[in-house]
Amino acid sequence: MSITNYVKIFDTTLRDGEQSPGATMTSAEKLEVARSLARMGVDIIEAGFPAASPDDLEAVRRIAVEVGNPPKGEPDAGVPVITGLARANKSDIDKAWEAIQDAQKPRIHTFLATSEIHMKHKLKMDAEEVIQRVSEMVAYARTLCADVEFSPEDAGRSDPEFLYVVLGEAIKSGATTLNIPDTVGYTTPDEFYKLIDGIIKNTPGMSENITVSVHCHDDLGLATANTLAGIRAGARQAEVTINGIGERAGNTSLEEVVMALKTRHPVFGLETGIETKQLLRVSRLVSNYTGIVVQPNKAIVGANAFAHEAGIHQDGMLKHQTTYEIMRPEDVGVNQTTLVMGKHSGRHALRSRLAAMGHSLDEGELDKAFARFKELADRKKVITDADLEAVIADEFYRPRDVYYLEGLQVSCGTLGLPTATVRLRGPDRAVHVHASMGSGPVDATYKAIDAIVKMPNKLLEFNIHAITEGIDALGEVTVRIQSGNGDSTMDAQKEIEFSRVYGGHGADMDIIVASARAYINAINKLIIAQTEGLQVVQNNFGVMLG
Ligand code: KIV
Ligand code: ZN
Repeated sequence: MSITNYVKIFDTTLRDGEQSPGATMTSAEKLEVARSLARMGVDIIEAGFPAASPDDLEAVRRIAVEVGNPPKGEPDAGVPVITGLARANKSDIDKAWEAIQDAQKPRIHTFLATSEIHMKHKLKMDAEEVIQRVSEMVAYARTLCADVEFSPEDAGRSDPEFLYVVLGEAIKSGATTLNIPDTVGYTTPDEFYKLIDGIIKNTPGMSENITVSVHCHDDLGLATANTLAGIRAGARQAEVTINGIGERAGNTSLEEVVMALKTRHPVFGLETGIETKQLLRVSRLVSNYTGIVVQPNKAIVGANAFAHEAGIHQDGMLKHQTTYEIMRPEDVGVNQTTLVMGKHSGRHALRSRLAAMGHSLDEGELDKAFARFKELADRKKVITDADLEAVIADEFYRPRDVYYLEGLQVSCGTLGLPTATVRLRGPDRAVHVHASMGSGPVDATYKAIDAIVKMPNKLLEFNIHAITEGIDALGEVTVRIQSGNGDSTMDAQKEIEFSRVYGGHGADMDIIVASARAYINAINKLIIAQTEGLQVVQNNFGVMLG
């Protein structure tokens, strides 16, 4: 088994992460996340579950082609491996292969459950059948692809002796990576260490050509601790997601594992290929696309991760940064580079700042970005990277405009009822205007939008925050809406499909405009999903992937 001092980072934000309720992303958003992951140095990108739907397959295929290959005319600059998940059957494996085969480094990732509970109640297979299926399907995947990963689902609750046998068969059939999932987040760090140690020592055929991987869920809040324990035991691949998003309580968070290995280097003595200065940027991108807000006290990327409130702490920090900070904020990208732009600042400065931040825009896009930038520079003196990031997300990384906000007028305050007049351009290019009253300006605005769009939904979450300090800060709004109107006459499957959660993001100096944009973006996603179908993973297939 390969014991090097390098830990491969396998990101599954686009597969396991996208399975969090409401984390549904459009394929353009998925592509942008994949690009950002590649730029940040992720070794393997799990781009999706191609058998879930034709949309999912197509989204994975685009990532394989566009992110899994070096740009034309450039040498192989270390493109990431692109993988797609497949249940252990030929049809899933064929679809995964169809989706990833055009990547320079494709990998098929197949899985089958090995715990008593899953074999008996879910698979209805006995131990012998599971062993046989694993060896047949890994061998089949190997006929298509030289790089095959196998995961015994629910390994955390599986009998270790049985795991050694199954994993030995997977090696015999050609698996090159063995990923050990704690699917339901049940184990403790000690137990997980022993599990990985036992697998490395007792699996027949284990050699230095095999990579042992860990994949932990956070149901007991132990995912990062378990992942690090597995790495200490010899695992050299960690499966993680940005912001720790994923099924139920989520997956292990990429940023926590990477920064633990970096900050406690003397303890672990291990390296990753992640350029940590990009962590915050990618975290914000994923949060904006999914509408899943990062809790302020979240390690590494939360808004308060480097904030010091208590007087004693502030006093210590003024005396020396290391009194209360174990990491430098700039190492995770909290450097708030400011770009002082006035009316006379040019496109060139904007282009080079955006390029340094990792955005390469074509001329048309740069025109749009510049117009938004000028508009902002007229109202705000100092523009930070965070402001630019929000404007870029607002302008480019939003779903296609089915409805587009053309105008908004709001009156509110203590004298009279809050009223909003909204002007939207619709899919038919026609302009729709509606005025509504509400309990507050956001309520009035959302009611006016609802009256035009007529798309039943429930607002589950509304979050607003200022991107930077100061009274002239940009306001950033994220919302999560649930489609459906609670129609009890619908059959259960239809209702599940119909009641999915969609996120939206908006940024503007006017917080009501930002609120309207976020809501319209979420509604546009809902409309696109219902009319064209958007990657439906868990609900259409009656299979819950951990
Ligand atoms: O948690 C899990 O078991 C998974 C596998 C499909 C790898 O996500
Ligand atoms: Zn999982």
